[in-house]
Amino acid sequence: MSVRRIAVVNGPNLNLLGTREPEIYGTLTLADIEARIAAYAAERGIEVRCEQYNGEGQIIDALHRLATWADGIVLNPAAYTHYAIAVRDAIAAIRVPVVEVHLTDLAERALSEPFRARSVTAEKCVAQVSGLGPDSYLRGMDALIAHIA
Ligand code: DQA
Repeated sequence: MSVRRIAVVNGPNLNLLGTREPEIYGTLTLADIEARIAAYAAERGIEVRCEQYNGEGQIIDALHRLATWADGIVLNPAAYTHYAIAVRDAIAAIRVPVVEVHLTDLAERALSEPFRARSVTAEKCVAQVSGLGPDSYLRGMDALIAHIA
């Protein structure tokens, strides 16, 4: 099957990209990253929708809703990655594949912040991409396209 529609969902604090700990997350804003995602999708004839929510319930509602629109979802659950069982359950509940992405390298960050080593959400995803900065989203889309094909 060829992919026609991809949704990209970003979790808490990612609306502050650009000014949020730039030494860790870089200086691109979320709008900058979403523009790259849109261009990458357009080159491949894929329709894309990007959304961002700070609340766990909002992310769950978005996953439920976007699963009826998209062929697959790229998700950066941000801090919910590490403990949000309800987000994990939502990923397991929907009928479209989800690829988890992170800007930063979770394994490397776990050396000083051990809680970042565990992703409760990735275990229900078809792939995880971590540590490539904004390219994590593009490689996440590639993984989704490869999985669906
Ligand atoms: C993040 C990594 C998480 O550990 C962190 O809580 C975030 C962002 C990333 O994209 O690197 O908020 O998901």
